[in-house]
Amino acid sequence: MTGSATDEKEIGRNAAWSAHVLTLFPEMFPGPVGQSLAGRGLKDGVWNLQVTQIRDHAVGKHQNVDDSPFGGGAGMVMRPDVLGSAIDQAKAVSGEDKRLIYFSPRGRVLDQKMVRELSEEPGVILVCGRFEGVDQRVLDARNVEEVSLGDFILSGGEVAALALLDAVVRLLPGVTGNVESLEDESFETGLLEYPHYTRPAVWEDREVPEVLLSGHHEKIKDWRKRQSMELTKQRRADLWESWSAENLK
Ligand SMILES: C[S@@+](CC[C@H](N)C(=O)[O-])C[C@H]1O[C@@H](n2cnc3c(N)ncnc32)[C@H](O)[C@@H]1O
Repeated sequence: MTGSATDEKEIGRNAAWSAHVLTLFPEMFPGPVGQSLAGRGLKDGVWNLQVTQIRDHAVGKHQNVDDSPFGGGAGMVMRPDVLGSAIDQAKAVSGEDKRLIYFSPRGRVLDQKMVRELSEEPGVILVCGRFEGVDQRVLDARNVEEVSLGDFILSGGEVAALALLDAVVRLLPGVTGNVESLEDESFETGLLEYPHYTRPAVWEDREVPEVLLSGHHEKIKDWRKRQSMELTKQRRADLWESWSAENLK
C-alpha cells in the first residue's frame, strides 16, 4: 500500500543521500532539520527526505496500528503486519541498499563512528516506534537494526530520528561550509574537544589563555591537544581508556 498524497511527504528528490522515515507523526518532519545548513542542503538536493505515515498501512475497519500485548501488561504494541507493510513499501521506494533502523532504548547507542558510517552510505530507512514498542517478529523478520539515543525513555522514535538526521546530514559533502571544523570535533579524534574562546579578550575579569593570543600555531595546537586529553581523562574515563591505549603505547 502506498501512502496518501497528503501524508507521503517527499522533499528534495534526486539527491545523493536519502532518508526515509516511517512514523505516526509525519508532521514532525523535517522540523529542525529543515532549518539552517541542513535545511539548505535539503532544498539544494544534497540529501532528500521521504516520510511515510505508518497509519496508511493500517488494517481492518478501525484502521488499527497497535494492539494489546499478548501475555498482558500495560500499554499497546505496534502490529507487525502494519509495520511490515510500511517497511516493505519503504524498501521498494527507497532501495534495498539502505540500512534499516528502528529506534529503541535496547539498541546500540548512536555514536559519531556510526554517524560517520551512515553519512558514507547511500541513506537510511528509519522506523519510529510509539506506545510500548513494536512486535518483536517484525524486527526479526526484516532484520532490523536497533539504535538508541541514550539511556533514557522518549515518547517516540521521532526525536531520535531527527537527532540522527541532524548529525549525519551535517557531514554530507556540501552541507557544512568549513570541513576542517568537522574533523576537529569531539569524538572524531577519539577525544573531547578543547575549550573555545572569542572576543572580548577580557570578560568579567576573566582572561583568555595567553597562548591563544600568541599567534604561535604549533604552541596553540599543542595546548589544545593537552586540553583535549585532560578533559577526556577527567570526564570520560571510557573514551580516555581506548584513546590512551591506542595513542600512548
Ligand atoms: C515509550 S517508548 C517505549 C519504551 C519501551 N517500552 C522500553 O521500556 O524500552 C516508545 C518508543 O520511543 C522510542 N524511544 C524511546 N526511548 C528511546 C531511546 N532512548 N532511543 C531511541 N528511541 C527511543 C522507541 O521507538 C520506542 O518504541
